[in-house]
Amino acid sequence: MSISFIDLAAQQARLRPQIDAAVQKVLDRGDYIMGREVGELETALSERLDGTHVISCSSGTDALILGLLGLKVRPGDGIIVPSFTFAASAESIAVLGASPVFAEVEEASFNLDPALLGEALEAGKKAGLNMVGIMAIGLFGQPANLPAISEFAAQNNLWLLDDAAQSFGASWKDKPVGQFGDVTATSFFPAKPLGCYGDGGAVFTKNEEIAEIARSCRIHGQGTDKYENVNIGMTARLDTMQAAILLAKLEIFDDELAKRQQVAERYHKLLDDVAQAPQLAQAATSSWAQYVIRLPHDTDRQAVQASMREHGVPTAIYYPRPMHTQPVYKRYPVSLSGLSLTEQLARDVLALPMHPYLEKQTQIQVVAALQNALEAQK
Ligand SMILES: Cc1ncc(COP(=O)(O)O)c(C=O)c1O
Repeated sequence: MSISFIDLAAQQARLRPQIDAAVQKVLDRGDYIMGREVGELETALSERLDGTHVISCSSGTDALILGLLGLKVRPGDGIIVPSFTFAASAESIAVLGASPVFAEVEEASFNLDPALLGEALEAGKKAGLNMVGIMAIGLFGQPANLPAISEFAAQNNLWLLDDAAQSFGASWKDKPVGQFGDVTATSFFPAKPLGCYGDGGAVFTKNEEIAEIARSCRIHGQGTDKYENVNIGMTARLDTMQAAILLAKLEIFDDELAKRQQVAERYHKLLDDVAQAPQLAQAATSSWAQYVIRLPHDTDRQAVQASMREHGVPTAIYYPRPMHTQPVYKRYPVSLSGLSLTEQLARDVLALPMHPYLEKQTQIQVVAALQNALEAQK
């Protein structure tokens, strides 16, 4: 039996009758666009988040763009964002004509380092940008230190958007991700902790005006009437079918989060003396979107991956190339203190199989394959 990196089939087997019934209902009614389940999903998510406004949409990237539109981002604006992330974070900023300003992360969490935000702010100002905000990212499922980042943002008259594409389901001091900063964006991409069977996402905000703009912009900037346009928007709705699937998956989401936590704890024990396991901040829980370890600097990572593959163990690199080194993002400013840790992390990280249905025996096999690959290099 080959090992799955992410096992969506196990989840589907558990939920198939509910998903079939949910999809059937939409097919019977035929309200494919902004149908009943879209509103039901938004209400269910809002209840999880203490009444926060929820605007479902067509992807995590579109959620970021809708959030930025809600924050009234303009060309010439500068936004602090980590370089160690998936492209969509910086892309959502750049596509609106604003400029990402790449900031350094912390060694333990791989997330924005609150102590180094000033270095990025200065870099943005030096580049002549109108610095307006910070985009934090909950990389691999662990939220950034959102209270500390919020404090820096408030002191410097900046807003805070949390890119929780990977960290929805996590918390900081028992407060769920989705309730920090001015706006949160998440993704329902199939491989995410809460994923649909296509593309999807959502914007969360307590701010009435931001919610109103995001809601309008997901349907061509419409006003109170369908044919009144009050904003420049886009087509960014979540399909009714995907909302119906998400409602079924939401029923088992907390159970799956608990299972992911168990899997993470088992890995942590097994990895002792083998490789550096992920480290959680004391205040944080993680949704464990990915389980990313760090290999010693001098490891030949490709050889480790090849050897593990030979033993039937898939691995992945998130992310091999920091954003500030990408051809199209090289032109944007980077923190005055540089991004040497980001560059080192991109060379050291390795993602192991992670999903709620990973069994102990399989994890033992994964870690044994890793250990064998590392020992071969000694
Ligand atoms: C950190 C981060 N932000 C944004 C996104 C974009 O989400 P989507 O693929 O749904 O557009 C992703 C998706 O992988 C992500 O990992």
